[in-house]
Amino acid sequence: MSDIAYQQCINPDCSATYPVQEVHVACAKCGSLLDVRYDWSRLPVPRSLAFFEHRWSTKGTGVEGQLDFSGVWRFRELMPFYRSEDQIVTIGEGRTVLQRADLLGRQLGVKPGNLLLQYEGLNPSGSFKDNGMAAAFTHARMVGAKRVACASTGNTSASLAMFASLAQMQGIVFIGSGKIAFGKLSQALDYGALTLQIHGDFDDCLRRIRQIAVDPRMGIYLMNSVNPFRLEGQKSIMFRVLEALDWQPPDWVIVPGGNLGNCSAFGKAFMELKELGLVRKVPRLAVINATGANTLNELYSRRNVRWNSGRFDRSAIQGLFAAMDESGYHPHTVASAIEISRPVNLPKALRALDVMNGVVREVSDEEILEHRAMVARWGFGCEPASAAGVAGLHKLLDEKVISPDDRVVCILTGHELKDPNVTVKYHTGVDMKSAQESAPRETPHGRLVNQPVKVEDDLGAIVKALGLDAGNITAPNTAAPDVEGGRD
Ligand code: F0G
Repeated sequence: MSDIAYQQCINPDCSATYPVQEVHVACAKCGSLLDVRYDWSRLPVPRSLAFFEHRWSTKGTGVEGQLDFSGVWRFRELMPFYRSEDQIVTIGEGRTVLQRADLLGRQLGVKPGNLLLQYEGLNPSGSFKDNGMAAAFTHARMVGAKRVACASTGNTSASLAMFASLAQMQGIVFIGSGKIAFGKLSQALDYGALTLQIHGDFDDCLRRIRQIAVDPRMGIYLMNSVNPFRLEGQKSIMFRVLEALDWQPPDWVIVPGGNLGNCSAFGKAFMELKELGLVRKVPRLAVINATGANTLNELYSRRNVRWNSGRFDRSAIQGLFAAMDESGYHPHTVASAIEISRPVNLPKALRALDVMNGVVREVSDEEILEHRAMVARWGFGCEPASAAGVAGLHKLLDEKVISPDDRVVCILTGHELKDPNVTVKYHTGVDMKSAQESAPRETPHGRLVNQPVKVEDDLGAIVKALGLDAGNITAPNTAAPDVEGGRD
């Protein structure tokens, strides 16, 4: 492959490559996940991370200035898959801060100055997803996409809908019926995305959207984190953490795990920074599942599945998924954002845990609710899934895996206002969600009304709801992605 940037299958026994101008939702040869890779020797890589500091003074509203303003693109030399800067999509994403959280730290038993919260809820759509969307929409624009789609537990759909409206593409989102927080649903509708409420959960939605997006005749560009370009943007969360710490890596990075895109991106960021000689030390990673959606913890902590240079134990994963199918298991947690049982980025998450000497834990809904309230009470605020990370820190301190002397960064992935129902219920006992469901309905009459469309979990019905011809859809190759997390 002579291109400076290309896509490559992560399976070491395949390693197939594809040009960046092509769109793939998986390796066409073996079905594994793809990475975006670079021939760094032919690229102008900065000699030190301090290079990026000058961008704070060159930000502005011109093309270059806007890129310097973006918390993603001011690190563009570390994600150079685009051909020219005018292809880049940005809406001022990633202007987030690393907050020193001494009051919360004291509650948890961390020494002053050692607990830092990376406040990703400050992104334009209120979650970390905007980092990845900026990159994936840039790629979508490069390949001339007109319609973009995702399955979502809420935040991906909100972010996609916002970017699609600004990039003038049709946004389509698949959400599980009754599965996403109201703040997130309201965003998808308000930004004008075609919102399909599928009778099923996130795993069902993702399976369906992959079935549809795999057929090029559908003309749908897939924005889920199986899209390797999304993860390029999410690497920037780690670059900003380093920047805020004067380029000194912390001891630990703690992140909630759902579809496992974020932790995968963090692992790739450090893999590349190390390769480029831009950091000496790599922080340790802790990925925190909810107990009701604990696939990664089950595989990593209990069944000892490891990356093993890409030759991880596929049969252990298949065995777990088969057992889930047999027992009719569905994930369930108050942290709806991470209510996922077949995380598509599982192999990349194993790689990240390898690169960052990681650990995985799970926390109960009660722990999530209590730690969400603590984050707010001591001055910040986040949605339930984000608090799983903080609850995980508490657990790891109790276990003495993390010491009070360690410098710890928790990623607060989504804003407190994303899920006000959980907050109100915690403080008052009133379940606003059920109340809303039984409340009398008026026919909406605003000029821009965009109602969600309810659809059965059935390929033909979904295709029809999309306004496409069911006769055109063929069943995708079902063999390989099974191990990678999708059921089909
Ligand atoms: N925190 C929040 C607030 C999220 O919305 C998500 C994922 C995660 C954590 C987990 O991140 O998937 O990279 O491991 N939300 C996705 C969505 C799945 O559709 O919005 P992950």
